[in-house]
Amino acid sequence: LHVAVLLGGLSSERAVSLSSGEQCALALEGQVARVSRVDAGRDLAQVLTDLKPDVVLNALHGAWGEDGCVQGILETLQIPYSHSGVLASALTMDKARTKAVLRQAGVEVPGGGLFDRHEVARRHVIDPPYIIKPNAEGSSVGVYLVAEGDPTQAAVGADDWTYGEQVMVEPYIPGKELAVAVLGEADGPRALTVTDITPTKGFYDYEAKYAPGGSVHRLPADLPPHVFEAALRQSERAHAAMGCRGVSRSDFRYDDVKDVLVLLEVNTQPGMTPTSLVPEQAAHVGMGYRDLVRWMVEDASC
Ligand code: DAL
Ligand code: MG
Repeated sequence: LHVAVLLGGLSSERAVSLSSGEQCALALEGQVARVSRVDAGRDLAQVLTDLKPDVVLNALHGAWGEDGCVQGILETLQIPYSHSGVLASALTMDKARTKAVLRQAGVEVPGGGLFDRHEVARRHVIDPPYIIKPNAEGSSVGVYLVAEGDPTQAAVGADDWTYGEQVMVEPYIPGKELAVAVLGEADGPRALTVTDITPTKGFYDYEAKYAPGGSVHRLPADLPPHVFEAALRQSERAHAAMGCRGVSRSDFRYDDVKDVLVLLEVNTQPGMTPTSLVPEQAAHVGMGYRDLVRWMVEDASC
């Protein structure tokens, strides 16, 4: 079997994807006949046409690689690929539309909504504390926490803001940051476990995600049993509602004072880096990194 691992790409998460993809490629070596690392650029369709892999393992993150575009190329070329298809990828990349679909599926999501970025820079569009985030980015790129007493976040209105004219503004939910990996199996989505994430400083931003020691992961999370169970079931429900395939990861906030669990977003191309959550959860249920990546390859379709 010849597997092409797509990595790098054109998004703000390029560095994360280079790390995810390299780990995946290393894990596949020795398990399949041939592994090709493909840095996904504008010439991707031509490169894959020439390379003729049997399967694509998609290790891209963010714009173009996670939003349905690359998935569309792979459908067109009829090359089986890992993770979600065109529709689930496009839908899940859009945080506002994700929230609408999840709400309809009975999953609790944050309030707030999309606002013009210049208005957000000018005034507090909702009461602080709140979170500002691009509607379609990952890895906390462009995310700001505006605490009580803070001024508005000027960066969102600046000329060099490149994350869209509309930004998501949501009330900040105090408490714990949780994550759940889901594997789409033949008899339905299976949530693995719940991780409780404590950033070493500040909130769970880009640095806390990828700098070694940037956050402490506790799994299984120490939670009241009804919350643990709810996080598992809501993640499976979200995976199904969004139409995901392969692996996904749902991220939550749990307000332990109010006892409210809120699903922030679903990730269709979750990180596979050395500090990432999904491989850790898989290992916890007895599926090592190599097994997880092989599972992704076996699950590939188009
Ligand atoms: N967007 C990053 C890669 C994640 O969700 O893990
Ligand atoms: Mg994300």
